[in-house]
Amino acid sequence: MKRGSGYNIVRFSVCERMFHNIVMVTYFLLLMTGMVIIGYNFQGERNSLREIFVLAHKTTGVIFLGGAILIVLCGKRAVWMENVRLLFVFTLRDIEWLVKKPVSILFRGVKPPPADKFNSGQKVWSAIAFFGSVTLAVSGIYLWMNRLSILALLIHTFIALGMILPLMGHMYMAIINRETRAGIGSIVNGKVDLRWAEDHYPVWVERKRRELLKRKSRKKTGLKKRGKKTFGLYDIQEKR
Ligand code: HEM
Repeated sequence: MKRGSGYNIVRFSVCERMFHNIVMVTYFLLLMTGMVIIGYNFQGERNSLREIFVLAHKTTGVIFLGGAILIVLCGKRAVWMENVRLLFVFTLRDIEWLVKKPVSILFRGVKPPPADKFNSGQKVWSAIAFFGSVTLAVSGIYLWMNRLSILALLIHTFIALGMILPLMGHMYMAIINRETRAGIGSIVNGKVDLRWAEDHYPVWVERKRRELLKRKSRKKTGLKKRGKKTFGLYDIQEKR
């Protein structure tokens, strides 16, 4: 693994991080309270403790959905639209990446196509997370209104359980995997090491650089020096 470059690149804005982190925290609370409710359902028990977990589950569900929608509404539309395009538009290059990536672990000569802001594995996880969450929200609201709907209960439970494995894969990449865990800063302070970003997301870094040069050439860079070397609008920053 190469050592750090001495520079950071801004990967996610405050709103993008708030969106991820509110979903992350509430999702885990929903998973835990949901598991307890499933346990009670299996035992056929309906005591007041179960009702407390149901209330906690519903409240967290409202924060999950309401929080995510509010943050999207407050954030910059252009940023969300770009993320939607980069995450949800699949092309043949994604299939090539998904085929070549696992092979490249065994054969160094095989190279998957370079990634933009997100690689194709992240795009697959995003599709699972998005459609899974929407289905959970819709079936959850329906269950709230119609407590006895077996179909809604089955859909809600199976989607929740089905998302556990991909979520564990996502967490493994974010926290444990040596190649990718350096990206964890992106959801904490929004920044990652520039060289690491060049290795993992070369198309994105190149695009950021071009945007920067364009801004500079228009003499509208907003370049300021706050005691550290900055390459324009604080996108690429010298580490303190
Ligand atoms: C402990 C739990 C979690 C950790 C440590 C974590 C970590 C991360 C990190 C570091 C990134 C940015 C990767 C990059 O630089 O591109 C990310 C992105 C993302 N996360 Fe999470 N996350 C967690 C839970 C969740 C949950 C619960 C969801 C949704 C249900 C979620 C959905 C996403 C999505 C859609 C992305 C963008 C695509 C990607 O980068 O994979 N995450 N997460």
